[in-house]
Parts: sequence; C-alpha cells; structure tokens
Amino acid sequence: MCHAAADAKGAGGKSIAVDGAKFGASVHGELKLKCTDCHADVSADRLPHPEKLKPVNCATCHEKAVKEYAGTVHGVARKGGNAVAATCTDCHGTHDIARAKGPIRARITRTSRPPATSATAAMPSSPRASFPAATSAANSTTASTAKR
Ligand code: HEC
Ligand code: HEC
Ligand code: HEC
Repeated sequence: MCHAAADAKGAGGKSIAVDGAKFGASVHGELKLKCTDCHADVSADRLPHPEKLKPVNCATCHEKAVKEYAGTVHGVARKGGNAVAATCTDCHGTHDIARAKGPIRARITRTSRPPATSATAAMPSSPRASFPAATSAANSTTASTAKR
C-alpha cells in the first residue's frame, strides 16, 4: 500500500504516511473502516488517485455530532471566519481517533491548544475545565451531603 512506508511523500513533498498500527487501534480501524469510507473521492479501482483530495466529511456518518458542533463556540467562530477555532480533527485527530471515553481529554489539553492570542488568552487551561468533571461532581455531592 502506497501509504504504509514511514517516509512516503506526495509530489509536493508532504508526508502521506499512514501508521497502519495506529489506525488499526483507532475506533475506526477497529471497525475495519476502509480508507475510502472517509476519503470518499478515492476509488480502489481507479488508482493512482489525484494528489489533491476533498477534505473528509465527518458528517457522512456523524450527522448528530456535526449538528451539535455547529452550535458550539468553535462552530460559531468557524462559521464567522475564525480559522483558529477548533475543528473535528483538531480535537479528535485523524487516523488515531479514540472513543470519547478514552484519551481524547488528554489529547485536547496536551496538544490541541491553539497558540496564545488575545482570543485564546481568556480560555481556561483546559476546555474541559468549564465542564464539571465526573469526579469533582461526585466529590461536591459528597461534600454537600456531609454538610447536611
Ligand atoms: C475516520 C476517517 C478516516 C479514515 C478511515 C482514513 N482517513 Fe486518512 N485522513 C482523515 C482525515 C480527517 C485527514 C485529514 C485531512 C482531511 O481532513 O481531509 C486524513 C488525511 C490523510 C492523508 C493526508 C496526510 C495526513 O496524514 O494528513 C493521507 C495520505 C491519508 N489520510 C490516507 C489514508 C489511508 C491510506 C487510509 C486507510 C488506511 C485512511 N487515510 C483512512 C480521515 C480518515
Ligand atoms: C473542542 C473540541 C472538540 C471539537 C471541535 C469536536 N469535538 Fe467531538 N467530542 C469532544 C469531546 C471532549 C467529546 C467527549 C464528550 C464528553 O466527554 O462530554 C466528544 C465526543 C464526540 C463524539 C462521541 C459522542 C457523541 O456525541 O456522539 C463524536 C461522534 C464526536 N465527538 C464527533 C465530532 C465531530 C464529527 C466533530 C466536528 C463536527 C467534533 N466531534 C468536534 C471534543 C470535540
Ligand atoms: C464512513 C463512516 C464514518 C466516517 C466518515 C467517520 N466516522 Fe467516526 N465512527 C464511525 C463509526 C461506525 C463509529 C462507531 C460508532 C459507535 O460504535 O458508537 C465511529 C466512532 C467515532 C468516534 C467515537 C464515538 C464514541 O461514541 O466514543 C469518534 C469520536 C468519531 N467517530 C469521530 C469521527 C470524526 C472526527 C470523523 C471525521 C474526521 C469521523 N469520525 C468520520 C464511522 C465514521
């Protein structure tokens, strides 16, 4: 497969390598999704495919999530032309997408923070910080019960 070599590059010199093991361990790899399920403008019987492909449309399979995204602060900012606002892949990744219960939280806080700008300066250190984490919610329940 053209993308298996770690040093595989397209004509423009950009890496086109896809780590099969990483993809295999992702939620989509586990389900044995084919490359062409996401890269829908590639057809296995018309190879090589054009260098430039359309962006993957998560909405083909995740209509609900895409609808919800449109109403979030990131979706609204994007629509208004803010190119720094997080997209699906900024938070979830591409070929290594994990279940929502898994390492996505770690990924978001670790790698996906946009560079500090006046727009991001007001952000909490983690986007999750504004949500009550399961544990602290449990703790505060315990605390209020204890007070009573
Ligand atoms: C769950 C959907 C999904 C599947 C399945 C998938 N990809 Fe991708 N791929 C993406 C996304 C998202 C990007 C980022 C660019 C974009 O948004 O279109 C991408 C980007 C790429 C790129 C550009 C370089 C890069 O890494 O950004 C290559 C090459 C590629 N994919 C090859 C493959 C191959 C080969 C397979 C099958 C082994 C595959 N993809 C399966 C979603 C997918
Ligand atoms: C700002 C980061 C961020 C962006 C942008 C984002 N997500 Fe998510 N997504 C999350 C987090 C975090 C969760 C886990 C939900 C939780 O723990 O409350 C999640 C959960 C999910 C889930 C599983 C739960 C569900 O609601 O079905 C899917 C599917 C999903 N996202 C798809 C998408 C798609 C498709 C996009 C783009 C339209 C997107 N996400 C954009 C952070 C993000
Ligand atoms: C060809 C269909 C298809 C495409 C395109 C696709 N996915 Fe998925 N995705 C699935 C299926 C099927 C599952 C498993 C759903 C389940 O088990 O609940 C899944 C699971 C997920 C999950 C984990 C959901 C959970 O409940 O934890 C996330 C997150 C996710 N996808 C994000 C994305 C993002 C982001 C994109 C676009 C880059 C994308 N997917 C593109 C089919 C697809």
